[in-house]
Amino acid sequence: MGDRGIVLTGLRGVGKTVLLNEMHARAEAAGWLTVRLEARRDERGATTVRRALARELVVAARKLTRTTLTGRLRDALGTISSFNAKIGATSIELGIGVNAGRADSGDVEVDLLELVEDVASALGEKRRAFCVFVDEMQDLDAETMGALIAAQHVANQRDWPFYVVAAGLPDLPRVLTETRSYAERLFNYRPLGKLARADAADALREPAERLGAEYEPEALERLLDATGGYPYFIQEFGQTAWNLAAGRVITDADALAAVQFGTEQLDAGFFRSRWERATRSERRLLLAMAADGDASSATIDVARRMSLLPSSLGPYRAALIGKGLVYAPEHGRIAYTVPGMSAYVDRNRDDLDAAGDLAR
Ligand SMILES: Nc1ncnc2c1ncn2[C@@H]1O[C@H](COP(=O)(O)OP(=O)(O)O)[C@@H](O)[C@H]1O
Ligand SMILES: [Mg+2]
Repeated sequence: MGDRGIVLTGLRGVGKTVLLNEMHARAEAAGWLTVRLEARRDERGATTVRRALARELVVAARKLTRTTLTGRLRDALGTISSFNAKIGATSIELGIGVNAGRADSGDVEVDLLELVEDVASALGEKRRAFCVFVDEMQDLDAETMGALIAAQHVANQRDWPFYVVAAGLPDLPRVLTETRSYAERLFNYRPLGKLARADAADALREPAERLGAEYEPEALERLLDATGGYPYFIQEFGQTAWNLAAGRVITDADALAAVQFGTEQLDAGFFRSRWERATRSERRLLLAMAADGDASSATIDVARRMSLLPSSLGPYRAALIGKGLVYAPEHGRIAYTVPGMSAYVDRNRDDLDAAGDLAR
């Protein structure tokens, strides 16, 4: 894995979570000590995620108690016990004394660092590593995020086998760097996006071929155009074509029907569910962004389209970011978090604005 953590970034539906889970499974299979967290942006987010961290640590550590314990590993488990006792996440016992005075100060940065030192250096002796997987990391509270970055930093310097492997929206690298300026050098940043056309074609073709079915060439091209190469849409259109096809050959007519039906399904589910999370004023903002297509919008332009002062846009923008519907790719700009949102808004403009009062 090299000496750095990994950060997977991309829009919703590009396959970050699938990839994170795969890396997690491989780390587990290699006997590493792993913890998997999903960050959430709400009032109790910080407490929830720290409790989850402590609980997962205890569960992971219990597996280790079945192996032969070296002295250092035994100490490390004691540190996990004391970290957990401080946070009070679970009453599961490790059957090992609490390592009092380690990882129990109540300051998350200090505690995490002591935890990482004890656990990773003990595991390193056994050629194993300690790995924290964090999904939706842009939603992690600033303090826990800072603590994880700081721990990765010290681990890199001291050669402790500790890795943060994270996934999040395209602005995650910026959020990390704003939290700790040195974060830029700590991670391998891996942006995920559309699949190359040949890979997208394989993703459609291979599962069908395994079941003895094939695509007419025109059908495959048509589906590929409709998916835009986005994994979630490949999944959706591929499944719809499969369900609509009468025989073992998926025809162009099947593909045409799949594109129509699949689009309706996406509109009614994937897109609609996001749209419905927005309040009336937030919907006006989402509509105003659509003029820029799937590219990002300058907030100044969006405000103008809504006949608002840029400063009045702030609260709506913040609320939409909190709901995960838009993100800020850079200062002064916003973009949809899902691919195809502008096309959805264009397709359904009349429906979405039935009262005619959203677009002015
Ligand atoms: N490499 C891939 N090829 C084809 N489909 C994929 C690939 N990666 C993910 N998918 C599919 O795309 C969808 C979205 O994946 P997910 O990991 O949840 O995305 P994200 O976490 O980026 O929002 C899932 O239905 C998954 O099955
Ligand atoms: Mg995901």
